Amino acid sequence: MTTPPQSAWRPGLRESALYDRNVIAEIQRAAREGIYDIRGFGAKRRVPHFDDLLLLGASVSRYPLEGYRERCDTDVVLGTRFARKPLELRIPITIAGMSFGALSAPAKEALGRGASEMGTSTTTGDGGMTAEEREHSKLLVYQVLPSRYGVNPDDLRAADAIEVVVGQGAKPGGGGMLLGHKISDRVAGMRGLPVGIDQRSACRHPDWTGPDDLEIKIGELREITDWEKPVFVKVGATRTYYDVALAVKAGADVVVVDGMQGGTAATQDVFIEHVGIPTLAAVRLAVEALQDLDMHRRVQLIVSGGIRTGADVAKALAMGADAVSIGVAAIIALGDNSPEHEDDYQALGTSAGYYDDWQAGRDPAGISTQEEELAARLDPELGGRRVANYLRVLTLETQTLARACGKSHVHNLEPEDLVALTIEAAAMARVPLAGTDWIPGFHSAD
Ligand SMILES: Cc1cc2nc3c(=O)[nH]c(=O)nc-3n(C[C@H](O)[C@H](O)[C@H](O)COP(=O)(O)O)c2cc1C
Repeated sequence: MTTPPQSAWRPGLRESALYDRNVIAEIQRAAREGIYDIRGFGAKRRVPHFDDLLLLGASVSRYPLEGYRERCDTDVVLGTRFARKPLELRIPITIAGMSFGALSAPAKEALGRGASEMGTSTTTGDGGMTAEEREHSKLLVYQVLPSRYGVNPDDLRAADAIEVVVGQGAKPGGGGMLLGHKISDRVAGMRGLPVGIDQRSACRHPDWTGPDDLEIKIGELREITDWEKPVFVKVGATRTYYDVALAVKAGADVVVVDGMQGGTAATQDVFIEHVGIPTLAAVRLAVEALQDLDMHRRVQLIVSGGIRTGADVAKALAMGADAVSIGVAAIIALGDNSPEHEDDYQALGTSAGYYDDWQAGRDPAGISTQEEELAARLDPELGGRRVANYLRVLTLETQTLARACGKSHVHNLEPEDLVALTIEAAAMARVPLAGTDWIPGFHSAD
């Protein structure tokens, strides 16, 4: 969706809260085109998020760590439950699954380069594994999605971990979209599709229907990979408590929970904005499910959906996540929405900072496109350096905050280090409203 022109306010012009300019423009667009709006990016409306939490730095009652001399470690091991070769990451921030097809080959390569430089993993996506991505990713998580595009035993064995995708936060219960103009010869070849025809990938796996079948599927994946690789299960955040419990029951080594703000390359706007629960609520429910099963820290939890800063990372870890994953922020770090492409954005009827037509394949930054000329604009080495820099900053910020809370490892952050700014956030995160001991909706046993 492009941004409507912002006409200057004059006395007497009163905008409706119900029918604001975006709502009016969308009704007009729907009347004109007769099809729902599809776009990339994540939810744009405001929902309770990590910004609504604050960390309690140390003072007299707690002792902070000195940044220059005292360590604050950041390493994390994913897949300690069953896998013979768990993933050992230097930082608790991973790159989320984004498909080749949605993203260009240089973009996928750049994400791998950036992640590898920082000692973390990147993830394939709907559409399979590209050779460049494998070559430049020291640790690569391989997605098995309902579409089964590109899934084959050789690539499963070539991966470092496997992620069974049940759903995404941007569209829990929904399938994938790849519009025809992004289905190039190479994308079509990898997915076994005709060139240039819109494709919609399935919303559910064809070979299992529930947790018992999922257990069999996970068993198959383990056998194919000789019990070496950790198996992740990724769910979009909805009935998170039960979904996480069932994923654990089915044998997941790692559960990935993607909140409703999670990014997407191409989904109906109505889906992005109206389905699922905020990441903040999802983290807490996921941790509770793991704790109730005595599996917290034994099955690792990765959280995604709107992670932008070290503060988001620190708060997610304090709530009990083992690691976080980033999608949209990684793409922005690569160069998406950069002012250097402003003229091109204007020509597309949008502007740097608003571009979300990632489904359209005309990305001036060469990231969400399959047009060779556009894709060639992204230098994978430069892109990789930018991603690494961004990951470095996220890590430094997380460490700074953890040290201020007196922690020698970022995983020592805990809910007790958090307070909420709003009643909603207090209830969702189950931490007290700042300056009170009140957690709405929480009744202690006594
Ligand atoms: C361009 C793009 C493509 C994506 N493709 C996939 C995909 O193929 N498979 C998948 O499980 N999730 C996909 N996602 C969702 C991400 O894996 C992740 O869940 C989400 O981006 C996390 O939220 P964040 O973008 O706010 O960090 C995609 C996201 C984006 C932005």
